[in-house]
Amino acid sequence: AAPAARGRAVPGTDFAPVAPNTRDGVVVPEGYDQAVVIRWGDPVVAGAPPFDFHHQTAAAQQAQFGYNNDFAGLLPLDPSGTENLLVVNHEYTTETHMFPDYDENNPTEEQVRTAWAAHGMSVVFVRRGPRGLTPEPSRYNRRITLDTEFEVRGPAAGSRYLRTSTDPTGTRVRGTQNNCSGGVTPWGTVLSGEENFHQTFAHADKVTDPVAKQRLDRYGVKGGESERKWERFDRRWDVTAEPNEPNRFGWIVEIDPHDPSARPVKHTALGRFKHESATVKVAEDGRVVVYMGDDERFDYIYKFVSRGRIKPGAGAHTRRHNSALLDDGTLYVAKFTGNSPAAEIDGSGRLPADGAFDGTGEWLPLADGTTSFVPGFTAEEVYVFTRLAADRAGATKMDRPEDIEPNPVNGRIYCALTNNSNRGSTGNAGPDEVNPRSGNKHGHVLEVDDDTTGTRFTWNLLLVCGDPNDPGTYFGGFDKSQVSPISCPDNVAFDRHGNLWIATDGNALGSNDGLFAVPVDGPERGRAKQFLTVPVGAETCGPVITDTLVTVCVQHPGENAPDAQHPTSHWPDGGNSQPRPSVVAVWRRGGGEIGR
Ligand code: FEO
Ligand code: CA
Ligand code: CA
Ligand code: CA
Repeated sequence: AAPAARGRAVPGTDFAPVAPNTRDGVVVPEGYDQAVVIRWGDPVVAGAPPFDFHHQTAAAQQAQFGYNNDFAGLLPLDPSGTENLLVVNHEYTTETHMFPDYDENNPTEEQVRTAWAAHGMSVVFVRRGPRGLTPEPSRYNRRITLDTEFEVRGPAAGSRYLRTSTDPTGTRVRGTQNNCSGGVTPWGTVLSGEENFHQTFAHADKVTDPVAKQRLDRYGVKGGESERKWERFDRRWDVTAEPNEPNRFGWIVEIDPHDPSARPVKHTALGRFKHESATVKVAEDGRVVVYMGDDERFDYIYKFVSRGRIKPGAGAHTRRHNSALLDDGTLYVAKFTGNSPAAEIDGSGRLPADGAFDGTGEWLPLADGTTSFVPGFTAEEVYVFTRLAADRAGATKMDRPEDIEPNPVNGRIYCALTNNSNRGSTGNAGPDEVNPRSGNKHGHVLEVDDDTTGTRFTWNLLLVCGDPNDPGTYFGGFDKSQVSPISCPDNVAFDRHGNLWIATDGNALGSNDGLFAVPVDGPERGRAKQFLTVPVGAETCGPVITDTLVTVCVQHPGENAPDAQHPTSHWPDGGNSQPRPSVVAVWRRGGGEIGR
């Protein structure tokens, strides 16, 4: 498609779109500048040594910025946004790229401990200046790793399914891992989703109890040794030694970046699945609603409605009160119904006769405190084995629900369904109106008008992604000759005008991933414009859109390389360097608002 011309654009989206490309760098619109904020291995905590790729240690990594940054939250400490806390998730480790001499059959204990330290989250004080954001030493700076103690709260705290030999109370978990996306709460804390936790556990094939086996299977915990062999150095990763350890991951965690001494929390009332993210909307009556996706092919969209009401303010006492709202309420899963005849949903992505993929929906209650609404499940079982309870409840199988977030301007909810190669294949669910394409390669974006604390909603698809020349794509009804191609939407964010910003992961159109701005109301609804692209092999994630600054996380640059001897990306350090996952800031040259 021809790039959209600059001018007369919706506020926030007035920039010349970046064309699809395969460059080994971050490409931004004409008139914009960029700089790396922080990269893997940069010092975070006082005393951290400088990064040394050839002599990395666990002790160094514990004090340095972790690997594979996904979510980022930017929390201003002053009204001008000069001083901020940057909170970043470190989703997973790529050992073959992290160590020059890694043997995947025989990792050393130091390499494994380094990987544990490279997981988790970072809190970094950053100062706004003319060239983006600069990290500074600060009392706020903190690393959370696989060794940090978490408090388990909510209805499944202390559950018999959470107790282990090292934690007979079932209330203290060591660490967090596979933290994908997240959200900043209205009370100034950060929620983070534990996503693909299953991959770190070993020997599920040796579990003989059929109920235990079914539960492990539903969460994808596999038999044999784990890919990273962690079980050789800590028996908690061996499910035959610690059968409940997998149940201690797959939660939404909350950290309070304003209080470096605060123990982080795992919120069991929000259910246990492969959590992509969690974002909060405050209802008119002050109850808080949390929207969440379970990122797996044919998994579900959830929401939680609190019993208590939010208190205004940002003091420590208020933060504790509001955090506790997430421990008491009702957990729901979504069921979607289309309004077009099933025969008109042919799997091609072409619109049905009424001109829209749309319909109604219902939130099916799963549990509330000690009450289960699912036959055959206790409330405790609903919270710990949420996927199985949602199967039983009859939730709608979606095309990998990634990030989901309320729009602060129009109040509607937007969810990225990233793709689903198995939709419509033998033995799997076929296309339906809310997941209308068979073998969905490019994903779609769902728009929901939710009765916030109620159980009914209406919905439609804003985007059916892909090459706009493909008749099986849809861009909100906008002229498809005037949009940027977009594939595999993952993270979503909003600017203050209410435009939707979408980061992609896994662009199946053959060019690099990127960040796009899309108006959702008015005559330019659906006009996707690419704002930036990321280097070879990288995923774009964690977008933060402020009036005068955009930040993105560039995760796993050069991931397509076989090992550290053959890097396919040298970003961001250039030359013959190894690629390093990093956070990047983008601003208008000379200052000014983004997209104005
Ligand atoms: Fe870690 Fe669903 O992306
Ligand atoms: Ca319809
Ligand atoms: Ca993601
Ligand atoms: Ca988001």
